[in-house]
Amino acid sequence: MRVFPSIEDMREHARRRVPKPFFDYADAGSYSQQTLRANRADLERILLRQRVMVDVDRRDTRAAILGEAVPVPLALGPIGLGGMMHGDGEIHACRAAQAAGIPYTLSTMSINAIEDVAEAVDKPFWFQLYVMRDRGFMRELLQRAQAARCSALMLTVDLQVLGQRHCDVRNGLTVPPRMSVRNVIDILSKPAWAWSILNGRRKTFGNLAGHVKGMDGVASLSQWISNQFDPSLSWKDIDWIRSLWPGKLILKGILDADDARLAVKAGATAISVSNHGGRQLDGAPSAISALPRVVQAVGSDIEVLFDSGVRTGADILRALALGARACIIGRAYIYGLGAGGEAGVARAIEILQKELDVTMALCGVQTIGEVDRRVLAGGIEHG
Ligand code: GLV
Repeated sequence: MRVFPSIEDMREHARRRVPKPFFDYADAGSYSQQTLRANRADLERILLRQRVMVDVDRRDTRAAILGEAVPVPLALGPIGLGGMMHGDGEIHACRAAQAAGIPYTLSTMSINAIEDVAEAVDKPFWFQLYVMRDRGFMRELLQRAQAARCSALMLTVDLQVLGQRHCDVRNGLTVPPRMSVRNVIDILSKPAWAWSILNGRRKTFGNLAGHVKGMDGVASLSQWISNQFDPSLSWKDIDWIRSLWPGKLILKGILDADDARLAVKAGATAISVSNHGGRQLDGAPSAISALPRVVQAVGSDIEVLFDSGVRTGADILRALALGARACIIGRAYIYGLGAGGEAGVARAIEILQKELDVTMALCGVQTIGEVDRRVLAGGIEHG
């Protein structure tokens, strides 16, 4: 594999290697992409405090997520269509995460099925649920996740209706890709991608197979989501989910302190402060600007994780300094997957871990336990 110094390098390589509809799907935000941009801009506005002449010879990025020891406070989040960035993409990503000793979350909307991943790896992974109208199917999915020994359930709470990503409409995104002249030309120019997909176990959504009548593909993803996903989902449903999933439960997509308090009341194990990577409510504040208020409201009652915009180790440090216990990444590893399969994901994790280690050193801190607002030099309203 070529040398990738940064996640941004991987992104550019993935852009060249993956057909446009799938690259754009992963890369884009919703509507005018204001929130997508704010996620990055607000992280970059948080300045770090340079400290010198501090002995940083014994640095240690170890931490714990949901009670499990990890070498770095990082988890791979759920990404729909991961297996369209690279054949068997979810298996590749899960293997890379497990080799690095960090959690991996399989999306409901993955290409590899829960069972494909469980068979291919030797440790438990997390499963992400989108609640659909067909509750019998939900029950079955959760039973499958339990049978696969998934060790936590991540319930996404910010996508009952889909925020439109204009590029998906323009590109006519379907799964598998429609063999239009434009797509065929695109695919022919990406032979490494085509080869990996041909050799992958599946060409459409593995977890949904057999449950959507006659489905061998999703003609228009957004249309399908609006038909299937349950817009009536509310806090009342958490008891029902809890009755089917007594294990660890993470609610992903909390941006508001009142919602964070409701998540605690509902008995969640953890929340992820998130705006879905700028893919849902366009015009919402950046996730990093929402983090301090959520931590202030519930930080001592529940484990607060953070996602949406993390692209560097410095970003991880910023989120930890503002009270997150760990970060979840999406695009940062999906670019690695598109750029180089399992090795690409492994490299993405390594990049972030090394950047975090160096950034901690230059801020004069040695352990994750020491990280707090004292590593910040300013740039965000703290509270
Ligand atoms: C699904 O999670 C998406 O963001 O497209």
